[in-house]
Amino acid sequence: MTKPYDPKDFYYRRAKEQGLRARSAFKIDEIVKRHHLLSRGQAVLDLGAAPGGFLQVLAELTGEKGVVVGVDLEPIRNLGKRWVRTAVLDLLAPDALERIRALYPDPFDLVTSDMAPKTIGIKVTDEARSLELCRMALGVAVHTLKPGGNFVAKVFMGGDFPVFKNEVAAVFERVDVARPQATRESSYEVYVVGKGLRAGRRA
Ligand SMILES: C[S@@+](CC[C@H](N)C(=O)[O-])C[C@H]1O[C@@H](n2cnc3c(N)ncnc32)[C@H](O)[C@@H]1O
Repeated sequence: MTKPYDPKDFYYRRAKEQGLRARSAFKIDEIVKRHHLLSRGQAVLDLGAAPGGFLQVLAELTGEKGVVVGVDLEPIRNLGKRWVRTAVLDLLAPDALERIRALYPDPFDLVTSDMAPKTIGIKVTDEARSLELCRMALGVAVHTLKPGGNFVAKVFMGGDFPVFKNEVAAVFERVDVARPQATRESSYEVYVVGKGLRAGRRA
């Protein structure tokens, strides 16, 4: 039987105890470690990064010799780590890529996206908006990753999920689907993991 929705569940309380800004921090920690997506000293771009739970974990994993860039529609409170750069940015705006490059011009080793649209409760509309953000994240990844770089994006399992998975498979050597332990039982979100951007796919 599915457990009733508890907004202050185990992972919520654990995040509070550990000073993490969002319970989703546990999700990216599990995915990155299980799939070996990032090493110390590397550069990572996080799309839809507010309030900063992913960023806290990614900053620990890269260490101070790395670079962590986080962007969101909403402002992200300073993390107090000089290797983390953030900006308010709409990923659907035409100058999004240019603005990311202004924050950090070199190619990234990993691009993550936890972007989610404001849902309106109409399943087809919510799924279509989510897919639009996923495609945008994939486009940004293809244009900003090193060849061999990795990609993680949150997707809502729906009609077009296999289509998106195929789009990721077309540009990465390997594709996996992750559903980390911290995912709420009632949620239909998963993370698509693209490993190894194929050479020549970078524009
Ligand atoms: C689930 S939250 C991300 C939580 C974050 N991963 C963390 O650990 O703190 C989803 C985020 O996607 C952002 N978002 C949605 N549409 C966006 C867009 N067009 N451009 C940038 N960010 C967007 C929202 O503002 C929201 O902060």
